[in-house]
Amino acid sequence: SANQSPAGKQQTATYDSAFLKACRREPVPHTPVWFMRQAGRSLPEYRKVREGIPMLESCMRPELVTEITLQPVRRHGVDAAIFFSDIVVPLKAIGVDLDIKPGVGPVVENPIRTRADLARLRDLTPEDVTYVTEAFGLLTRELGATPLIGFAGAPFTLASYLVEGGPSRNHEHTKALMYGDPQLWADLLDRLADITAAFLKVQIEAGASAVQLFDSWVGALAPADYRRSVMPASRKVFEAVAGYGVPRIHFGVGTGELLGLMGEAGADVVGVDWRVPLDEAARRVGPGKALQGNLDPAVLFSTPQAVETKTREILDAAAGLEGHVFNLGHGVLPATDPDALSRLVEYVHTQTAR
Ligand code: CP3
Repeated sequence: SANQSPAGKQQTATYDSAFLKACRREPVPHTPVWFMRQAGRSLPEYRKVREGIPMLESCMRPELVTEITLQPVRRHGVDAAIFFSDIVVPLKAIGVDLDIKPGVGPVVENPIRTRADLARLRDLTPEDVTYVTEAFGLLTRELGATPLIGFAGAPFTLASYLVEGGPSRNHEHTKALMYGDPQLWADLLDRLADITAAFLKVQIEAGASAVQLFDSWVGALAPADYRRSVMPASRKVFEAVAGYGVPRIHFGVGTGELLGLMGEAGADVVGVDWRVPLDEAARRVGPGKALQGNLDPAVLFSTPQAVETKTREILDAAAGLEGHVFNLGHGVLPATDPDALSRLVEYVHTQTAR
């Protein structure tokens, strides 16, 4: 309206964006698109500004975070930005001795496997991550109507790095703890739920218009174990941020058998990898939730024609959904041709323009 401040006008335009409308299952002018890991090594401009700066250090520099977050928005015209950070940043911020090793991922010097270890995980306060608040301030000013997605790692996926001490194929130490000392496991996940909720609150209060909880590795579990040993902690995170009214997205890889439970844990939007078609995913998730996904990121290494064919199949499977946010089924692979991503955004927009 005429008496709105510039900041108020920007908030209204953001609220009315295709991305947030799709998350709320409202009609959209076109299917919105963004990509997990859209900021990163696929972009030469990213490799250039990151040169010589370790990953975790780059997450603590608000101007650099702002530049990296904006790069894929400028280049691809995606419908949302995702805050440049990493799931282990809040753990680093509370003093966990971890690092992100190039080509490997997060590595924890002293894994957490006993009750004494658990005592090392203290609460996260906004003062621990002032660089995050600062970056959100810079970003919301630069982004205009484009929504900014905040994110965090879910308790299970964070626990897997903390307990294994690094990336893991089979999660054997994690499962040993989960089955062997259920009480310590529950206490660990509850602790991580509090840290995660605090980290998401910082981002929402600094201007995030949606949040995504990455439970990337939870597909390693059977549904009964998920329900018993993981869902209470993830639900606690979602409930802690429910009152803000920002859409909550819940994503994991290989979660075909868990989609219903991941929706039940409290998400507004459920992320789907490429293993389950979206119409089938909608049946598993049930009514009242939007879906996000689900092009196999490896398809982008094929011909432009093949990318269009696979994308068309996804749009057809999504035609009957109440809300669809187009995305990959997992993060952009580092060797992806960035032009293939730009073409994909354009294709989804023109194919779905209403
Ligand atoms: O664009 C975006 O999506 C935002 C940035 C982002 C990063 N990590 C930056 C990053 C996001 C959302 C994440 C989340 C993340 N981090 C997840 C969940 C998403 C998923 O992929 O399932 C996980 C499991 C991690 C842990 C992690 N951090 C891994 C597995 C790696 C890759 C290791 C490697 O070098 O291949 C990292 C490092 C990391 N996080 C990079 C980036 C851009 C690469 C580091 C670099 O560029 O040097």
